[in-house]
This record gives sequence, structure tokens and C-alpha cells, in this order.
Amino acid sequence: MALVNAKGMLDKAYLEGYAVGAFNINNLEWTKAVLLQAQESNSPVILGVSEGAARYMTGYKVVVDMVKAMIESLNITVPVALHLDHGSYEGSLKAIEAGFSSIMFDGSHYPIDENIKLTRELVSKTRKLGISIEAEVGAIGGEEDGVVGGGEVADPAECKLIADLGVDFLAAGIGNIHGQYPANWSGLDFEVLYEVNEVSGDIPLVLHGGTGIPTKMVKKAIRMGVSKVNVNTECQLVFAEATRKYIEAGKDLKGKGFDPRKLLAPGVEAIKQSVKAKMELFGSINKA
Ligand code: 13P
Repeated sequence: MALVNAKGMLDKAYLEGYAVGAFNINNLEWTKAVLLQAQESNSPVILGVSEGAARYMTGYKVVVDMVKAMIESLNITVPVALHLDHGSYEGSLKAIEAGFSSIMFDGSHYPIDENIKLTRELVSKTRKLGISIEAEVGAIGGEEDGVVGGGEVADPAECKLIADLGVDFLAAGIGNIHGQYPANWSGLDFEVLYEVNEVSGDIPLVLHGGTGIPTKMVKKAIRMGVSKVNVNTECQLVFAEATRKYIEAGKDLKGKGFDPRKLLAPGVEAIKQSVKAKMELFGSINKA
């Protein structure tokens, strides 16, 4: 199947009460692991690409070409969206031009008027091209690939202003954090999530920082209008752990164990298992 935008899959998830996972990819192995697992789980999937990851993979065009070619070579038939994660205005334009099927413009660090102005411009561009667009209000805490957020809780009135611009889905800060949660984290702010869902109309909401949120809270958020959950750090952690175990067990020193296709295989399998568990938790299995 060709790349699709994320609007159709998320509108369906919102109506039916489950969420689609957006998994960040970093390289060929990550992409392969997520695509294969989505197919095995018969689940729609969103591949998230941060600007840093796009730079690492040497450009947006390389990412688009690799993902499209891999969908074909692996015979992936489930819906796949290729989504810019936390894009700047310039990065959004570049991703659109390169052929991404979905973008997130993160204007949460701007004053609300500027966020509205830039989001409005990008809504008009993406709409003409059939690309879906996510906007953000209230910066997500922590740091992801150089994008640092203060961990704000969004103002529902501001969420309404951004939702009314016609964005396809909306990320609102509700105490969520990129990376691992500190032991004294006070949890998601469900009162704000409730208000944001009330004022935003029927727009699917996005939960960033999907690593380490207790499963009960994730399920509750999905019941309250979250239809896209972003996961990045967890896949990085399990990949690193599996690779470390392989090397600590001396497997790279036996036979041709140093062959990167062997050395990276446990990490790829670990990503697949994590993606599978998240898809089960989000309820997206067999929703392709
Ligand atoms: P985690 O790294 O905490 O899983 O967050 C991912 C994310 O929100 C990507 O935008």
C-alpha cells in the first residue's frame, strides 16, 4: 500500500476508541522493525521522524524514498503514515516538499499568536496537498533530539483557537514528558485532557511521551479522546539493552558474530516486541 496521511486512521481510531502508535524511526533497522510488526499485528502505524533523525538519515528525501521502497519490498499492506515529529516551520516545508504524508508543526514555544499564524499557514498548505497536520499547545516536557520543552499544561482556550484552524489532530501538554518519567512525576492531568477534548470538537488528540506512562493512565487517556500515542525512548532503550547483552555475552567474537546483520538482529527483535506490546495496549491490533 502507498503511504497514506494520518487523518483517516486517526479519525477512525477516535470514533472507535483506540489509538494508533507513532513510533520514531532512526535508520533502516528501526523502519524495518516497525513496519514488519505493524503488518504482523495487522495494525495501522505512523512512522515519526524528528528533524534530528532526518538529518541523521541524510535528509527528508532519503527517508521518504527508503520508507516507500520498504513498504513495497516488504509487501506492507497495512496503512502507514510518514510523519514529521516536532517540526519547525522550515522543517515542515522541507518534509512536505520531500513527500511526507503527515507533519507536526510544533509552535508550542511561540507566543500563542505566532503559533496560530504559523499553524494557519501550514494548515492551508497541507490541506491543498492532502497531507495531515498535527499542532501543539503547551510544550511537552523534557528533551527530544534537541527540542526542549518546559512541561507545560496546555490552556484549553488556546487549544480551541488552534483546533479551530482546522488541524487534523492536536497535541496538548498534560504533564507528559519525553524520555523517562522521574520517580516523583505527578501523572497526567486528566482534568485538562477532559476540557481540551470538550473544546476541540471531534479532533483526535495526541499523547506524546508514550514511554513509561502507566498502562492504566494510557487507557484512560485513550477513552478520553487520545487517538495517537507517540513512542520513542522505549524502542531506543530496548534496542540498546539487547545490543549490550549480545556484546557482553561475547557473541560478536564468535564466528561471524561481528557481522552487523547479526549484531543488530537482537535489537531489531526487541523493537518489534516493544511495538507489539504498545499496539496491544493502544488497541490498534487488527484495525488495519
Ligand atoms: P518518548 O520518547 O517519551 O516515548 O516520547 C516520544 C514522543 O513523544 C515523540 O514525539
